[in-house]
Amino acid sequence: MSHRVSLTQYLVEQQREHGHIPPQLRLLIEVVARACKRIAISVNKGALGDVLGTAEDQNENVQGEIQKKLDVIANEVLVEANEWGGHLAAMASEEMDTIHVVPNRYPQGEFLLMFDPLDGSSNIDVNVSIGTIFSVLRKVNNSRGISEEDFLQPGKQQAAAGYCVYGPQTTLVLTVGEGVVMFTLDREMGSWVLTEKDVRIPEDTKEFAINMSNMRHWGPPVRRYIDECLAGKEGPRGKDYNMRWVASMVADVHRILTRGGIFLYPWDKREPNKPGKLRLMYEANPMAYLVEQAGGMATNGTQRILDVVPGKLHERVAVMLGSKNEVQRITDYHREAAPAA
Ligand code: AHG
Ligand code: MN
Ligand code: MN
Repeated sequence: MSHRVSLTQYLVEQQREHGHIPPQLRLLIEVVARACKRIAISVNKGALGDVLGTAEDQNENVQGEIQKKLDVIANEVLVEANEWGGHLAAMASEEMDTIHVVPNRYPQGEFLLMFDPLDGSSNIDVNVSIGTIFSVLRKVNNSRGISEEDFLQPGKQQAAAGYCVYGPQTTLVLTVGEGVVMFTLDREMGSWVLTEKDVRIPEDTKEFAINMSNMRHWGPPVRRYIDECLAGKEGPRGKDYNMRWVASMVADVHRILTRGGIFLYPWDKREPNKPGKLRLMYEANPMAYLVEQAGGMATNGTQRILDVVPGKLHERVAVMLGSKNEVQRITDYHREAAPAA
């Protein structure tokens, strides 16, 4: 049997070779991975574990969405796993209104962790792939207590990012700024095994992902791009396109990291005052970091996502990411429609 590399071994060797995974960051990544294992167990139990359906108190999260039981369970698992290790100063989550500072009884670490504990909530009850997304920042200012402001750093400052997809396989995808790697969960052994070392997104693709039911609400650049894809061989693009939309960003991004494609969740006229549906800090930023590290591109139509300076924790953003040449094209269409002043 060929030698199997575990997550721990990968992280230790990265530190030896590149020196960019200090012990606190390694602990952080291992704790998140362990929490994902626990979430995977709940996801797999489904109806047998009483984890399906809406949370008992029918709570709305800060986004105004009704929480599912698994949104709450996954959030608790991540918070409990991460608060005592001494690697974190604070956490933020899609499911928590404000930041969660590590309690005084535990040592404070130098990192900040953000997560979407359960991505793809509408797919939980129908047994379709869902996931957990996470993003890691450093606490920059050490001279005072921790506040929301510490989190408001552009995505290019992430120290690590990744997701776990709970699908036919449970896969952990990670970047620490040296490319993208994938680990598959070996359930019998309870360990993460390195199964993809150098993930690359092809620069061209014939596959797009967008919720087509919103077509009438899109702006002209998105409309133009999709119209041209739909025109197929006979149209200006000269090739037929395929479409996929899982409605779990983790699953759609995982497909793109595996075989290419473009993922779009653009601004639309349903709620014109919001830049988009997806959240910048714990959905778009970690995915943009992974995609760029795999040779792809990620913009909000006019700007690189990783350059966006957040104004608030739960800020939203338009998202276009994946195969470079396609993302470049739709970004050009946006710039042509609204040239920079
Ligand atoms: P979440 O379940 O964390 O709220 O995120 C759902 C997101 C994202 O995963 C997915 O791409 C998108 O919402 C699907 O939106 P539509 O239902 O509007 O297609
Ligand atoms: Mn999500
Ligand atoms: Mn979520």
